Amino acid sequence: MTEQQNQGRLTSRSIRSFVIRNGRLTKAQAAAMDMLLPRFGIEFDENQQLDFSTLFTSQAAPVWLEIGFGNGDALLDMATRYPDTNFIGVEVHEPGVGQALMGIESLGLTNVRIIQHDAMEVLEHMIPSAALQRVLLFFPDPWRKKRHFKRRIVQTEFIELVANKLEIGGVLHCATDWQDYALWMLEKLNASDKLKNNSASGNYSPRPDWRTNTRFEQRGERLGHEVCDLLYTRI
Ligand SMILES: C[S@@+](CC[C@H](N)C(=O)[O-])C[C@H]1O[C@@H](n2cnc3c(N)ncnc32)[C@H](O)[C@@H]1O
Repeated sequence: MTEQQNQGRLTSRSIRSFVIRNGRLTKAQAAAMDMLLPRFGIEFDENQQLDFSTLFTSQAAPVWLEIGFGNGDALLDMATRYPDTNFIGVEVHEPGVGQALMGIESLGLTNVRIIQHDAMEVLEHMIPSAALQRVLLFFPDPWRKKRHFKRRIVQTEFIELVANKLEIGGVLHCATDWQDYALWMLEKLNASDKLKNNSASGNYSPRPDWRTNTRFEQRGERLGHEVCDLLYTRI
């Protein structure tokens, strides 16, 4: 399915945190979309909540969900480091999905599934309440201009949705290299009555050692940007 067709299947949400870019698929990515998406992908279905016990080989393992995994740098790294955890990656950009599928195959990972769709809709329609141990949001599009702030994925509605899908004690982990967005996230997340900042001072958290240095993080570093991690626990 092309990105345009996929976008056509999106439901009623009017303001989205992404625009579908017409990036060309490499031959290998196109082949991965044909051959591997049926194996490792989950079709978006707004009428079907997922049953995690039938999705993965390791049925009872905790599930972490990554939103906007890009090319899958962090997703593949986490799935390799934590074989006893199951991962769902959600991304709309088709070349990135193709690339991640190639990685899943070449690394022989059995604990990753991919959904090519808007994460807001996936969370709302397909993820059962209190089902996730972690939600990861690394280097989301910062939407720098004021008139685009409404497109930032971290909004009160997003925070409420994520909080409802996290188990008690589960963690939302965000990272960004855009200072203005970091502050925006901090203010909105600190205002949630369902999430508690892991930083006792109510500020940013230290970067966890294991967090992968993704493509977008490397770009930020080249530009001299400071990176902020924000970790919140579902209470
Ligand atoms: C700046 S990139 C960061 C990619 C990756 N996390 C990294 O650190 O390299 C943001 C990604 O989020 C994806 N994205 C934005 N909004 C999304 C949404 N609502 N659902 C799924 N993916 C989304 C974009 O397609 C893009 O690939």
